[in-house]
This record gives sequence, structure tokens and C-alpha cells, in this order.
Amino acid sequence: MTPPTPRARVAILISGGGSNMAALVAAMQGDFPARPVLVLANDPAAGGLAKARAAGVPAAAVDHRPFGRDRAAFEAALRAALEPAAPDILCLAGFMRVLTGGFVARFAGRMLNIHPSLLPKYPGLDTHARALAAGDAEAGCSVHEVTAELDSGPVLGQARVPILPGDTPETLAARVLPWEHRLYPAVLRRFSAGDRRPVLLP
Ligand code: GRF
Repeated sequence: MTPPTPRARVAILISGGGSNMAALVAAMQGDFPARPVLVLANDPAAGGLAKARAAGVPAAAVDHRPFGRDRAAFEAALRAALEPAAPDILCLAGFMRVLTGGFVARFAGRMLNIHPSLLPKYPGLDTHARALAAGDAEAGCSVHEVTAELDSGPVLGQARVPILPGDTPETLAARVLPWEHRLYPAVLRRFSAGDRRPVLLP
């Protein structure tokens, strides 16, 4: 009788409401090759912390503000908070702090992020407004491996969403967000099982 493969330990980093974190945690409740071991926020007031605790997932915050512009000190505090949880995989989910190459290097090949655009289009902020301004016919979201360059790592999954007449950045974001919640768990399932085939939705 071969022992069951241990489930990958996943830490999820958030900054706000954590709807993507909640979707990942919910997906990992079932038959899933990974399990959540920590939710970590850079803001003690992040709404996602209460959601994590309600789901029985340990949650903590490392407030980035006291560190000012000292990214290295903030990231050392992040690492100290992560270490006891011994994560195998880090999922950035609505995490709004830019991480240095030094931090990323420690998790090379095992850190994911969800970004609300069809990368490589529109890395950075205001993605839906930029897609609308460009007159694109579609928008969407991407899950990618995190590398030192912002929003530029290998894409592991995408979901495409039509842009409709009269769309605003808000209506488009509301149409994309549920697809983020479907895409991220699907990518994490494959990634944590060592399967790197891209997930393409719908
Ligand atoms: C989502 O659009 C996500 O793509 C972006 O931040 C938004 C909020 O994410 N990074 P969440 O609800 O905090 O997961």
C-alpha cells in the first residue's frame, strides 16, 4: 500500500477582501492536492483575515507601514511570519505590495499570482480601464509564476471574458472576478500536482 502523497502546504498573501483567497481555501476543502496553512496580510484591517479564520485557516498580518520604504525589513518580517508554516507554495491573491527579487528568489518556481488581465497585455495597475481605452473585444485574468519582473512570469492559466458595449472598469471587473475564482483553484490544483499544462477557460 503506497502512502498517500502529502498535500502541498499553501500560504496565501492578501491585502484586502481576499475573495480569491476564499475561493482557493474553499477549493482546498475537498479532494485537492494542496491545503492552506496560513493566510498573511500586509494590512491588519484586511477583510480577508476574518474570512480565513472563519474557514479555520490560521491568519496573521505584517503591517507594511511601520517599515516605510525599507522593503528588505518588511520582507524579512514576512519571511519570519511564513517560516513556522513551512509553505511549499505561495499564492499572491489580491496582494498589492511589490516584492523584491531577493524575496522572489527564495520562492522561485513555487510562487503564483493572479492578475486581472490577459497577460502579457496590461501588467501593472488599472488593467480593465486600459483594455477599455484600447477598444479591446475581450479582457480576463491570468495566473502566472511570480518572477523578479512585475506580472511577467510564465502564464499557467487564463480566463477570457467578453467586453460588452457600455462596460466600465467596474462592470468589467465584476464580470472578470468570478472567473478569477474559477481559474486560480484550477491552476493551483494542477500546479500542486506537478502538472504545468496551462488552464484555459472558459
Ligand atoms: C482582484 O481583481 C485581483 O485580480 C486583484 O485584486 C482584486 C481583488 O482581489 N489582484 P481579492 O478580492 O482581494 O482576492
